[in-house]
Amino acid sequence: MYNNSKRKWWKEAVVYQLYPRSFKDTNGDGIGDLKGIIEKLDYIKSLGIDVVWMNPVYESPNDDMGYDIADYRAIMQQFGTMEDFDVLLKGLHARRIKLIMDLVVNHTSDEHAWFKESKKTRDNPYRNYYHWWDAEKGKPPYRWSIFDKESNAWKYDATTNSYYFHIFSEKQPDLNWENPQVRREVYDMMKFWMDKGIDGFRLDVITCISKDIAFPELPKDMQVGGWFPYYAKGPHLHEYLQEMNREVFSKYDCMNVGEASGISIEDALLFVDEDRNELQTFYHFDHTGFGISNTNFMYADDSNRDLVQWKKTFERWDKVFIEKGWGTIYLGNHDMSRMTSRYGNDSETYRELSAKMLHTFLLSMRATPYIYNGDEIGMVNTNHTNIENYQDVYTINYYNQLKQKSEDYEGFLNSHATISRDNGRTPMQWSNATQAGFTTGKPWLAVNENYKKLNVQEQEDRPDSVLNYFRKMIQLRKNNLTLIYGAFELIDENNKQIFAYTRQLGNEKLLIVLNFSDTAATLNSKKDLSKAKMLICNYEEASDNHLFKPYEAVIYKL
Ligand code: GLC
Ligand code: CA
Repeated sequence: MYNNSKRKWWKEAVVYQLYPRSFKDTNGDGIGDLKGIIEKLDYIKSLGIDVVWMNPVYESPNDDMGYDIADYRAIMQQFGTMEDFDVLLKGLHARRIKLIMDLVVNHTSDEHAWFKESKKTRDNPYRNYYHWWDAEKGKPPYRWSIFDKESNAWKYDATTNSYYFHIFSEKQPDLNWENPQVRREVYDMMKFWMDKGIDGFRLDVITCISKDIAFPELPKDMQVGGWFPYYAKGPHLHEYLQEMNREVFSKYDCMNVGEASGISIEDALLFVDEDRNELQTFYHFDHTGFGISNTNFMYADDSNRDLVQWKKTFERWDKVFIEKGWGTIYLGNHDMSRMTSRYGNDSETYRELSAKMLHTFLLSMRATPYIYNGDEIGMVNTNHTNIENYQDVYTINYYNQLKQKSEDYEGFLNSHATISRDNGRTPMQWSNATQAGFTTGKPWLAVNENYKKLNVQEQEDRPDSVLNYFRKMIQLRKNNLTLIYGAFELIDENNKQIFAYTRQLGNEKLLIVLNFSDTAATLNSKKDLSKAKMLICNYEEASDNHLFKPYEAVIYKL
């Protein structure tokens, strides 16, 4: 039996990620709001999830949709008021759902009071809250920026004849974590929210808070991805995380999950080994290159979909946490295109089957599952190839950059269309009413045209819908500790179509078989599955023995 002292609520929880801007609008301005979430609390409860992770709702000019915060202690006016927030939190807790908030502290908005002060004079008390480079030292060593119009992370500011550093857009200056006062302000702000009663944080780009602030020249032959050591995982990262733990996390029964690009299998436990008192969990990106170009992640690449390698990635990561720490699992979020389109199949024939198959996967792995809103009904990509349909600073700035340089901007968009972040941000499809029941006005981002067929209301009433399958699968996980804590073992690992594994806890052994392809596939296994008890299947009738139908998903008790 699993060591009881290692059981934790946040390991057993299913997390629902909620993107407020696109969830439900109540005042017709086309932007989702807190009142909208409040209106849908019973729906959220009906899913069976335990925790909501809500994307940023703080005051923000929305250059990067709330990831550019102007005031950490105020609610964005477009979303509502602090009173609405309190009602929402109470409503979640009354339904025994916990709430974790986004913590965006690698950078603030350039409209944050700290930055406005910081840029005034070189001797301003807030100067050291950010990274400045005095122009008389010459141009700062080049740093690439992910959302910048010119991909340049240094922005010149004439007021003080200096450059400031921003990994993301120029409206997202990086905070200087070396300054103890900055850290103190962050912990106080975290405690402000914890004392309000929230249950923890998702830590945005947390590996970036410590970086090499000597800003040495980059090597000339640097490859994509090679930039990491220069921007993140700096010398004080673990020191700061331990300090944050001591100052904040250790004082509450809370949950935290770091967004951890750049973390590798080798250093994973440094972050989540319980004895080191840093984080509980993080999410890595190792499986998310599926269908994306290896040389430029702004482009799609359909040939880059190797299921065998993909399975091994999950196997490798599972092994990391056998003795210590704990993992997370996700296939979609607000930074990615829709999971059903990327890892499943969004054709009419296979959309529902493949969405159910992916839910079977997410909810049967040994890690805390994160399900992104809309995925519970199998929402799919919009794949727009027209720039007017985009709102994301990431897509827009890169597109404009190519255009200015007279490079192939149309080719870029044709390729990027299937993987752009806005695919995952279109409004929630509630019903077949105008604008999918999301708003009575004009939505900030166009609703997917398929809403008449694909919506919550239609699925509520249909027992075999994705939505109802998702609910059933959550209950299956809840009622089987084996699905949560059981050992994971990959089966038939070189099978190019099927992802199969067992989960074992004590004497109980479950077999999960997932056909990731659009043709029937055979599982190479000696077990006579015709005698095994089937716990769930996404077809009305499961296949006989070892031949699995397209996108079939089955869990057997062996
Ligand atoms: C994270 C967020 C993303 C945001 C970026 C900058 O990756 O998930 O949405 O754009 O950080 O804050
Ligand atoms: Ca609104």
